[in-house]
Amino acid sequence: MLSPREGETYVDCTAGLGGHASLVAPLVGASGRIVLNDVDDGNLGKAAEAVRRTGGEHCPEIVTIRGNFAELPRTLGERGIRADMALADLGFSSNQVDDPARGLSFRLDGPLDMRLDPGLKLSAADLVNGLPEAELARILRDYGEERHAGLVARKLVQARKETPILTTARLAEVVRSVLSGRSGPSPIDPATRSFQGLRIAVNDELGSLQALLAAILRGAGAPGSWLSAGARVAIISFHSLEDRLVKRALEETASRGVGEVLTRSPAMADEPEQRTNPRSRSAKLRAVRIGGALGT
Ligand SMILES: C[S@@+](CC[C@H](N)C(=O)[O-])C[C@H]1O[C@@H](n2cnc3c(N)ncnc32)[C@H](O)[C@@H]1O
Repeated sequence: MLSPREGETYVDCTAGLGGHASLVAPLVGASGRIVLNDVDDGNLGKAAEAVRRTGGEHCPEIVTIRGNFAELPRTLGERGIRADMALADLGFSSNQVDDPARGLSFRLDGPLDMRLDPGLKLSAADLVNGLPEAELARILRDYGEERHAGLVARKLVQARKETPILTTARLAEVVRSVLSGRSGPSPIDPATRSFQGLRIAVNDELGSLQALLAAILRGAGAPGSWLSAGARVAIISFHSLEDRLVKRALEETASRGVGEVLTRSPAMADEPEQRTNPRSRSAKLRAVRIGGALGT
């Protein structure tokens, strides 16, 4: 859907480990350009290295930008860089969730952190131990889609009075103590939804996505625009809250005459891919082609 062509500029809003960027690099070739953006400095370095490796002698120009993709359209506009293709592959990368020190996983004990951007002021522990019960319940309900958000929030407030909740294992244990037996048999750990809700809140994931979508809706062609006329933009989301926002924004590009939606329904991983890469199961890709003068 990105349809990379030689000499084009590819902007990876979420460079991660450079998997997608490495696939695009040989297609844009030495006359092309790969812009890598990530909030995680470590991943940004790994992505650049991966692109350099696959690009070899014909490596495109590589530009690295550390930051939130909410800021990226403005940064690119200021630098006079226009994307012919852009991709946002939302959420976290495997090496982040598998690192106990990041505090993202209820399967691995570690500090209750969850910040993808180490520069953020508040960690998950700050929220869990500091927010009023009603606000905690709102986060668990709205971002975690936890049906028993009120009960979980009440239990968290009781538990933190005994001792602060500072590790992923303790958070998971408190959540499970409320939910075990309530949700019926399920292959999903009862802590899953609460962890998702807190992670989304800590990283303001929906706020960042909305800012990026607004920048896509502004279209191409305007002075300082970050998208070239005909730019293809793809977004991979991993839960319904994100997918709903993406779907609505892409439909709006069409209704405003700014873009043409390339995915009638979201593209998903097929059975063999889901088997070899279970984390692809919940991924949904939607894409849009942004028009030229229409978007001005
Ligand atoms: C699913 S991974 C991307 C994997 C990548 N497509 C690849 O092929 O390796 C998501 C990445 O996005 C980064 N990220 C998440 N939210 C971000 C944001 N708001 N701004 C910039 N980077 C973000 C994470 O740090 C992580 O490295």
